[in-house]
Amino acid sequence: MKLEGKVAAITGGTRGIGRGIAELFLAEGAKVVINGRTPEKGVQALEEMHAGADAYFIAGDVRRQADVEAFVEGTISHFGRIDILVNNAGGSSGFAPVAELSDEAWNEALNWMLNATFWGTRRALKNMIPRRWGRIINISSVEGKQANKTSVAHYITNKHAIHGLTKAVAFENGELGITCNAICPGAVETDLMTNTGPAAAEALGMTYEQYIQDYAQDAAIKRLNTVQEIAAMALLVASEVGGGITGALLDVNGGTAL
Ligand SMILES: NC(=O)c1ccc[n+]([C@@H]2O[C@H](COP(=O)([O-])OP(=O)(O)OC[C@H]3O[C@@H](n4cnc5c(N)ncnc54)[C@H](OP(=O)(O)O)[C@@H]3O)[C@@H](O)[C@H]2O)c1
Repeated sequence: MKLEGKVAAITGGTRGIGRGIAELFLAEGAKVVINGRTPEKGVQALEEMHAGADAYFIAGDVRRQADVEAFVEGTISHFGRIDILVNNAGGSSGFAPVAELSDEAWNEALNWMLNATFWGTRRALKNMIPRRWGRIINISSVEGKQANKTSVAHYITNKHAIHGLTKAVAFENGELGITCNAICPGAVETDLMTNTGPAAAEALGMTYEQYIQDYAQDAAIKRLNTVQEIAAMALLVASEVGGGITGALLDVNGGTAL
């Protein structure tokens, strides 16, 4: 039980990578609060996780500052504090090369990723700093370390920017017992992939199947990653023994972009 007694909040925790992290944290003794835009997905996740009073759902859209802050505050009022924040929800739409990229797509991506991570981190730190213990885990991407695909500059830029914020938060709070790390997953076939992959593939002039195969072939392991592989890294940095890791950009990408 590596997280016995800890309270974790995970944005976008009803499905995909966030859900995998929520399930592993619960199995390791944490109390977990998950978020998502769709209340039905929240109800379903709570039912499927069978965690009883140890899991709680707060609806909200991380693209809105008020919702992110309400999520952190709701975690604190429900379970008394926040020990671990996973800034997981993220995404983009309106795929196009930079010359054609709309303001709308750019600003949405900014809110969905960098701003949401900032809003949640700032609010959580206010609760963690006085208690001199905390873990902030930002779910970035292999796209935070490379720029080798067209039409996703808004996604790439935000994931790179999250790395700067990760290091700055780690630097400012290291002596206070608070770590901040980014996990950089390779491709995982979640709703994000199945929902936005076809449009991203089309913008690249390929089919969705080719798009998935491209990701697999880019990796040394010649396959996609799994939710469980990402969750295992989150558990390491969330745990007591992970306290010596901070400001790190941790690859879980099967050896992509070596
Ligand atoms: N899948 C990949 O290949 C991959 C690779 C590298 C990095 N990542 C990163 O990993 C993170 C999670 O990705 P995923 O693939 O697990 O995504 P996903 O399958 O789309 O899961 C998304 C989860 O986040 C919630 N969500 C989505 N947008 C939200 C919003 N604006 N506000 C609140 N909740 C929101 C969803 O619920 P609702 O729909 O109800 O809101 C759901 O619970 C993202 O930051 C993504 O960039 C993913």
